[in-house]
Amino acid sequence: MWTAHCQNLVFIAFVFLPSIARGIPDYSGLPAGPYCASRYPGGGCCPGRQDECSAPILTTLCYCDDFCDRTREEDCCPDYWHHCKGRANDTDPPEEIRRCFFHGREYNHGQTVRVNCNTCKCSSLGKRAEMLCEETRCLIESELMEQLNLQGSTLGWQVGNYSEFWGRTLRDGVELRLGTLNPSQSVYRMNPVRRIYNPDALPREFDSRTRWSRDISGIHDQGWCGASWAVSTADVASDRFAIMSKGAENVELSAQHLLSCNKRGQQGCRGGYLDRAWLFMRRSGLVDKECYPWTGRNDQCRLHRRTDLKTAGCRNSPNSLRTELYKVGPAYRLGNETDIMQEILTSGPVQATMRVYQDFFVYKSGVYKHSQNVEKHDFGYHSVRIIGWGEEPSYYGASLKYWLVANSWGYNWGENGLFKIQKGTNECEIESYVLAIWAKTLPSQ
Ligand SMILES: *[C@@H]1O[C@H](CO)[C@@H](O)[C@H](O)[C@H]1NC(C)=O
Ligand SMILES: *[C@@H]1O[C@H](CO)[C@@H](O)[C@H](O)[C@H]1NC(C)=O
Repeated sequence: MWTAHCQNLVFIAFVFLPSIARGIPDYSGLPAGPYCASRYPGGGCCPGRQDECSAPILTTLCYCDDFCDRTREEDCCPDYWHHCKGRANDTDPPEEIRRCFFHGREYNHGQTVRVNCNTCKCSSLGKRAEMLCEETRCLIESELMEQLNLQGSTLGWQVGNYSEFWGRTLRDGVELRLGTLNPSQSVYRMNPVRRIYNPDALPREFDSRTRWSRDISGIHDQGWCGASWAVSTADVASDRFAIMSKGAENVELSAQHLLSCNKRGQQGCRGGYLDRAWLFMRRSGLVDKECYPWTGRNDQCRLHRRTDLKTAGCRNSPNSLRTELYKVGPAYRLGNETDIMQEILTSGPVQATMRVYQDFFVYKSGVYKHSQNVEKHDFGYHSVRIIGWGEEPSYYGASLKYWLVANSWGYNWGENGLFKIQKGTNECEIESYVLAIWAKTLPSQ
């Protein structure tokens, strides 16, 4: 008795406070009626939401108004479809009028909506409709950004949201924004060099752009083409042509030439090997960017194998004495932190390859260090150009050493296209695969 009384109170509250949502009962398995049929024997039932338009069922009520099929179709009386809507032998709501509520909006059955990199669809789940979403990892995830922001200054770097990354999968990012294959194999084929210098005499800060103000390439944007292998190779070579010719051959070499023509063993916009890229440049040479502009597509090579600048149809470089393509000597490897510094100081930017995890995509400023909280299995290798180094005060007191590095994701990313990353700790393996070359400049006149 006591229980029944309580339940009566509850349903009275529902009747007089229509703004309260009705419960979500499940009447499946109950006999098909009559419920509405006994209350509204003429058919028709009630339009709109009329909470009093109901029939007793078990110890509560089921509904015979149109509202019962709008929102929570489960509280329709089992004979609602048959009696009120004239659907013969049908106790289930038809699929086409089921609806889903999702993130404060209503969706029709079959309707889809994009949530970041995933598609959600209003689908039937038994008798009701529910939003079912794909569960792919996205390149930028709000939860990760929040988690990184919570670490505040202990993280050491700041987080940014990039609209061009939004809506893409993490897999897209790893496959199409990076693009350097197996550096441990390809880079270790190159010889290390030994240089004689005094490590204590190396400056604490250095920026190639200050030392060689007109010779350092700007920031490129590889787009959705995993060809950092080509972009970083062309950019490091360009810088070295300008520096080693003392500005006489201030050229911007074509990464597209590499991407389109260095095909053997390479995978174009799905990645490439650095040893093959440098070997191509050593044997065949590259033309400049004006002659072979960046399209970010792995299309057919439009230059002959053994061409010179003239037959390639390139405009004469300012230095009219050059006839052959821009070639380099064999690439060599730098073994440790001070060797890398000495190399940049004397000869200009170097190529480095790092492991990139999900958190790197949302780097905005500060000295990057891979956050320990991020999943480890999704990563790729990415080649970049180290142009200098420096130190800045750290959260923990002692100063923090960093490399100053040019990325190839446009000027909008990071600190005007650059990033800083911890130096001397082989952060993300950035000190493991460092390469440089000697540019074959024209003999000075
Ligand atoms: C990031 O940017 C996208 C679109 O540019 C936006 O929809 C999203 O809410 C932003 N996320 C965060 C965490 O700010
Ligand atoms: C780096 O390697 C050079 C040899 O190339 C060596 O002289 C130097 O001591 C090494 N420095 C460190 C910090 O290991």
